[in-house]
Formats: sequence, structure tokens, C-alpha cells
Amino acid sequence: MNKPVNWGVISTAKIGRVHVVPAMMKSRVVNMMAVASRDVAAAQAYADELGIATAYGSYEELLADPEIEAVYNPLPNHLHVPVTIQALEAGKHVLCEKPIALTAAEAETLVDVSNRTGKIVEEAFMVRHNPQWMRVVELVKTGAIGELRAIQGMFSYFNDDPANIRNKVDIGGGGIYDIGCYLITTSRLVTGQEPDRLAAVIDRDPVMKTDRLTSAIMTFPGGVQATWMCSTQMNLRQRMNFVGTTGRIEVEVPFNAPNDRPSRIFIDDGQDNFGSGLKTEEFPTVDQYMLQGEGVSRAIRNEGPVTVSLENSIANMRVIDAVFNAGKTGQWVDV
Ligand SMILES: NC(=O)c1ccc[n+]([C@@H]2O[C@H](COP(=O)([O-])OP(=O)(O)OC[C@H]3O[C@@H](n4cnc5c(N)ncnc54)[C@H](OP(=O)(O)O)[C@@H]3O)[C@@H](O)[C@H]2O)c1
Repeated sequence: MNKPVNWGVISTAKIGRVHVVPAMMKSRVVNMMAVASRDVAAAQAYADELGIATAYGSYEELLADPEIEAVYNPLPNHLHVPVTIQALEAGKHVLCEKPIALTAAEAETLVDVSNRTGKIVEEAFMVRHNPQWMRVVELVKTGAIGELRAIQGMFSYFNDDPANIRNKVDIGGGGIYDIGCYLITTSRLVTGQEPDRLAAVIDRDPVMKTDRLTSAIMTFPGGVQATWMCSTQMNLRQRMNFVGTTGRIEVEVPFNAPNDRPSRIFIDDGQDNFGSGLKTEEFPTVDQYMLQGEGVSRAIRNEGPVTVSLENSIANMRVIDAVFNAGKTGQWVDV
């Protein structure tokens, strides 16, 4: 790429400060120019810590900076769409944190604005930029486990801090938005299909009212069944299994893949119950947040694809809508 993309980050969000922004700054196709916060002192402290040239005391000031071509939006979930629209209208491309919106209908409002302004919106599903997932897709597609029949996924952590954005129901808190979205997007990625129906059981925190434990079963048109569980108040765990007629693939750290050691997947031919036929594939150490920043930057320069299209994000939101609906009604729901 001839010229790196000039980026700005909206808010001092922890995910940006600790993971996404430092990773992007490691790339030569990214020029991280500015950070904005509602509090200028917080923006300045962030800029000093990460070595970013400019600190703004409001999101609007950053969006008005003509040098900035693209922004990273890691705001609480209820602000994903409104601030992404503001950024598009200001002529910026947007990398927006997951979930892209609170509903599919809200996500759909981005389409017109993105088309009219000619600016890209990509949902920050960093997992889709990670080579380990490209390999799982390839293995399943080429029949390495026979015919895919079932997917089993889990993602959980414990966080009951009422001050955390994940525990505030009015700003898009809860486990389905925060982590269920990954179980859905990777199931859709590997099947290459949209689920047609699903059922879900949702347990809510009695005080905070956020969904704290959800179990779901989704069926896909070819007959594949995906079952998954996500929780914000359970011991730390993440795993994905893809089970076929002749084998099984297990992704060791499917979502928060490490940036300091190789990622691993296990392929078991199922010859016995003790893993005698288990093979491990190790991937060279990568930072999936850096790959994400590079992928979006290349797409902005028309030098690569948009990895997570808006259409794909809207489809993911349709499934999230259906999970909430199924949990509420106790019925099977068409997606
Ligand atoms: N891709 C991933 O791996 C990953 C991991 C974690 C989180 N996320 C996503 O990233 C987003 C941020 O998560 P986080 O845990 O980093 O959040 P966080 O630390 O709580 O930061 C959110 C930021 O938004 C700004 N803000 C504006 N209005 C706010 C409001 N009403 N309440 C609270 N904050 C407000 C604040 O920045 P200022 O005060 O500076 O304006 C705040 O620092 C979420 O959408 C989450 O789903 C993604």
C-alpha cells in the first residue's frame, strides 16, 4: 500500500486502549493520528500512553478533522449505529465494534448512509481475519471431517460489576450482544449458511436485568445443528467444536486468540475416546486485531476485500434478534 490510512479512535474504551489500537499501531498501513473522549484529560492521557499525536475533548471535533480518513468506534453498543452514521456523514470510513447494532432493523439503517457517502463500515469481528478460522473453513469445506453435522460452542466469563457497560441493559449490555454474537458469526462462517430456525433459553440477572446465561440451538438448511451457550456470570471458558461424520475439529481459543503464542486447532479422527487419533495444527503467532486493522485499511484503499460486509453483519443481527425473541416466547423462531 502506497499511503497508510489516517485513523482516529472514538473514546478511551478499554478494548481500544489495551488491544485494538496498539495492535493497529504496529501496522505500517495504519497511521493512528488522534483519539477523542468526552473528557479531554482522558483523551490526552490516552494519547500520551499510546504515543498518539492529537487528543480531542469531543467525538465531534475528531470527526471534523479533515486529515482523518477512518475511525474506530468502540463505544457502548447503543452508540454503535448513531455514531457510525455521524462518522459516515463526516466522510469517514468506520471500523465499528460488535455487535454492529442492537437490532437488524437498526443495522439496516447503515446501508443507505454507507452507499450514499461511499464509505465502508466494517463490524470488528477480528476472528474473521484470523488464519485459524480460514483454516477451519477450508478443512470443513474439503471434507476433512466428512460431512459437518453439528457445532458445539461455548463462551463465558464472570463479570457482575454493575458499573461495567456489559451489565447495563439500557445501553446494550448482556451476554448475547457481548459474546453470543461470536458463537453465531463463527457458526455462520463455517457452515456458509444462515440458520433457518432457533430456540433459546435466557436467564437474566434479577437486579441488572441483563441476559447472563443463554443456551441456544440453531438449525441450518442442510440439517446441521449448532448448540451454544454464553454467560457473563460463569467461569472463564471458550471453545468451538465442529463434528462431522468422520472427524471433529476443536478450536482451542476461538475468540480471544493469543498474540504472544501460536493458536491451535485439534483434529480428531475419532478412532477412540482417548484422542489417539488427535492431530494438532499450530498457526504462526499473529495479532488478529492488527490483521483486522490492516484488512480494513486495504479495503479502504481498494486493495482488498471488505471481510465483514454490512450485509453479513445484518444477517448476524437477524440471528441475535431471533435469539431474544425465542428466549422471550419460549417458542422456536424462524430467523
Ligand atoms: N472485539 C473485541 O475483542 C472486543 C472486546 C471487548 C469489547 N468489545 C466491544 O467494544 C466496545 C467497548 O467495550 P469496552 O469494554 O472497551 O468499553 P469501555 O471500556 O466501558 O469503554 C466505552 C467508552 O465509551 C465511551 N462512552 C460514551 N458514552 C458512554 C456511556 N453512556 N457509558 C459508558 N461509556 C460511554 C467512554 O469513553 P470516553 O469517556 O473516553 O468518551 C468509554 O470509555 C463494546 O461495544 C464491546 O462490545 C470488543
